[in-house]
Amino acid sequence: MNNYILSPSILSADFARLGEEIATVEEAGADWIHVDVMDGHFVPNITMGPFIVATCRRITKLPLDVHLMIEQPERYLEAFAKAGASGLTVHVETCPDIVGTLKQIKSLGCRAGAVLNPETPVGSIQPALMAADLILVMSVHPGYSGQRFIPESIARVSEIRKKLDALRSSAWLEVDGGIDAETLPKMKEAGATAYVAATAVFKHPGGPAKGLRTLRALL
Ligand code: DX5
Ligand code: ZN
Repeated sequence: MNNYILSPSILSADFARLGEEIATVEEAGADWIHVDVMDGHFVPNITMGPFIVATCRRITKLPLDVHLMIEQPERYLEAFAKAGASGLTVHVETCPDIVGTLKQIKSLGCRAGAVLNPETPVGSIQPALMAADLILVMSVHPGYSGQRFIPESIARVSEIRKKLDALRSSAWLEVDGGIDAETLPKMKEAGATAYVAATAVFKHPGGPAKGLRTLRALL
């Protein structure tokens, strides 16, 4: 496995050619496939559910990095695990008992992730730090791909990096939102180890393989 994870988000893929799009990034060296699940409540947009995760599971051998932007995620964890998710990442804003939810994810055999929105105080991730296999820091307001990177996220990643190091945690520190050739190096310097990118991969003018390799060259 690579020391740094690239997890292209299929939110910007051409869904008429989803199989080819995923095969292209897999061949170009993607580590995981990021699947953005949105419910129209926690975020304004509505996207994909377990059915698409099951479809991806048939298309690729890569781990499926499933980002749940939904209210009451615990109601759907089993369905996503059964559909073939490798990792399930839940928002601290949606989980009154984040540690319990992370344990539930692990009991389903999935990598357990906790994510926080740009305006959520970094301190609210504290209880999750020891229980999570992955901490995700949003660098845009979740809901859509193609948004502008929020520069304040860099300091938030550094702060969480310090907390993880102090705990000697080996959890992945993932970033999501506006990650491209310009912002990725800044997040790397801040201590991120896993990178989600939709636009910079699937909308790259040279095509998704070029987009992925451009980011890999920076890691
Ligand atoms: C945003 C999603 C992201 C999104 C990233 O709500 O969680 O994963 O697909 O898109 P880009 O890389 O275009 O900012
Ligand atoms: Zn995402």
